[in-house]
Amino acid sequence: MHLLRTPAELSEWTETARRQGRRVGLVPTMGFLHRGHTSLMEASHERADLTAVSIFVNPTQFGPNEDLARYPRDLEGDLHKCREVKVDAVFTPEAGAMYPSGHRTFVEVTKLEDGLCGGRRPGHFRGVATVVTQLFALARPHVAVFGEKDWQQLQIVRRLAVDLHLGVEVVGMPIVREADGLAMSSRNAYLSGPERTRALALSRGLQAARARWAAGERGAPALCDAVRGELRAGEVREDYVELVDPSTLEPLERADRGDARLLVAGFVGKTRLIDNTAIGC
Ligand code: PAF
Repeated sequence: MHLLRTPAELSEWTETARRQGRRVGLVPTMGFLHRGHTSLMEASHERADLTAVSIFVNPTQFGPNEDLARYPRDLEGDLHKCREVKVDAVFTPEAGAMYPSGHRTFVEVTKLEDGLCGGRRPGHFRGVATVVTQLFALARPHVAVFGEKDWQQLQIVRRLAVDLHLGVEVVGMPIVREADGLAMSSRNAYLSGPERTRALALSRGLQAARARWAAGERGAPALCDAVRGELRAGEVREDYVELVDPSTLEPLERADRGDARLLVAGFVGKTRLIDNTAIGC
């Protein structure tokens, strides 16, 4: 497995692969890898000849009062996991290499970044879109794989890849869950035992909404209330619960078209968690 430390090393590695006629897959991550991430690496293996993983806790996507400093990190453990999944190269840049002094360019994906997590975390998706564009520019991957847990992020990355003519196929992979339904997330590491139990309210809420839909309910308020009931029961403080169009992320009144997405964000203690599900199919 190649360890690539600088942007130039990533470009050179992928350029060589391209010249050899090999398809390159990229899995962007912020590290502290779990089975959700390794499922993305496996998906990349199926679609590309070589897979590169980036591990970079991107400072520009954290707000001033967010968890950049305490975001969980475990580079040695991450490299071990990447080796186990037979990743070909890992890119671990320094923040100063991605954002050298004088850096002034940011990428904004208008509208898509306004609501949901973007509404609650101003500037977050500007940081995500900027670093993902940088990674795409450096690696020029044929395919890039992202998790569906960050549904809004996935739509934003899809949009920027098309709008900026980056020629990369953006693939979304299903949420990987623990046996009890908790969506895998690096932030689960913050949860105490009792908090982890309370965190199940998010997936339970989405399940409750799906059950309401299966029983004939179509209205967004009732479907969202089904989620809220579980959040209250788990003492999870709601950040938002919204039924939206899966690609435009516009709010929907009803889920009768067969392609709505229900998204939830909530705080368990100080930890902010997100989850989502397709509804109506
Ligand atoms: O989903 C993440 O881990 C990050 O937002 C990403 C896409 C790696 C950009 O920093």
